[in-house]
Amino acid sequence: MLYSNDEMVHNETIFGLESTQLKFGRNSLNELGWELSKYNSAKILLVVDPVLHDFDVTQKILDQIKSSGAEVITFDKISVEPTLKSFEVASQFALENSFDLIVAAGGGSTIDTAKVANLIKVCGGAVMDYVNAPIGKGKKPTSQLLPLIAIPTTSGSGSEATTVAVLDIPEMKLKTGISHYFLRPTLALVDPELSKTTPSGVTASAGLDVISHAIESFISKPFYEREKPSSPDERPPYQGSNPVSDIWSMKALDFGGKYLSRAVLNGEDVEARGNMMLSATLAGIGFGAAGVHIPHACAYPIAGLKHSYQASGYKKCFIPHGFSVIVTAPAVFRFTYDIEPEKHIKAAELLKGSVITNPGYESLPYELIKLMKKVGAPSGIKELGYAKEDIPEIIKGANKQQRLLSVAPKKVGENDLNKILIQSMENW
Ligand SMILES: [Fe+2]
Repeated sequence: MLYSNDEMVHNETIFGLESTQLKFGRNSLNELGWELSKYNSAKILLVVDPVLHDFDVTQKILDQIKSSGAEVITFDKISVEPTLKSFEVASQFALENSFDLIVAAGGGSTIDTAKVANLIKVCGGAVMDYVNAPIGKGKKPTSQLLPLIAIPTTSGSGSEATTVAVLDIPEMKLKTGISHYFLRPTLALVDPELSKTTPSGVTASAGLDVISHAIESFISKPFYEREKPSSPDERPPYQGSNPVSDIWSMKALDFGGKYLSRAVLNGEDVEARGNMMLSATLAGIGFGAAGVHIPHACAYPIAGLKHSYQASGYKKCFIPHGFSVIVTAPAVFRFTYDIEPEKHIKAAELLKGSVITNPGYESLPYELIKLMKKVGAPSGIKELGYAKEDIPEIIKGANKQQRLLSVAPKKVGENDLNKILIQSMENW
């Protein structure tokens, strides 16, 4: 219960909203110099996706930094899906150079790379020290990090608003993350003009990631069902759903339902693209506070085990994050429906944009599948290269993501995951 006269001694009673400051709108990039001048920075590390060099974005950012009076050094060795190795290369660069503020411009991969470089620069040690246990040591940062200004150029990960950096460890055939409050960017400068050049396949995958962030966080286990932490420091960044995170998640879903298919089907639809940029950040704030769970826990092994899928709009064979997430979402939301039917129906109605008559446990999967088809998503994990024999390996990988599974609205065992994955072979 959110707040009652009966004190449940062992349960959490507190939730919080810690959020990245946000500046959104067309040409907001032009205010970067003004924002930077608040920090009195002498030297800035610019972590930038090299793709942006071709569209004059890098130059615009450099001009803005120059106008603030600070010096700059640039790092652009960004891996499309960051690996342990690519994070180590960025961290080494950070250690070898001096700077007092970071600007990160690019998609989630770039912003995540900047978060980790910041962490290692300030707190030292090896990347694996901070990777979530049991895969890494799960060590916490020892102090606040340097200010990080994030400029997202795709509308997906919401990394500009979250406490997480995701990495691929090919040697272990898995994906996992580093998560702590201190990783959250100080300011997100979200300029829809920067997403204009994104290919429609990338918009589709990234947008479906946004939709899943919003639904997963909206239906995640309420914060008060978690055990009370022994100290504020032990309270997880993924606190579970609460009335404040619900607001962000619902608005993100509302925008996602209205604008994702338009943004994918017509790259010139500036209104749709702009609103999807905002939707990604709104969802980032929502799930950055409440958390994501089963679809993301399954997505990590799905993206980590096989790399033969060629998605439209991407230059290499791999499974884009949004697709790896969305393929299991319909089956997951069938599984979680009975815990909180009202929220599942509400999510379906937000996606549809109108009231659903005769709602039921198929309402949300139905709306989701309709959207997946519209934007050209893969029909299931079979299309991504998996057969039924691969399911035990995916379950093994998903089970390693206990940090995520613990936020699921109901307990999910191996049999449940098996059922979800069988249903997710082909969603239609
Ligand atoms: Fe995601």
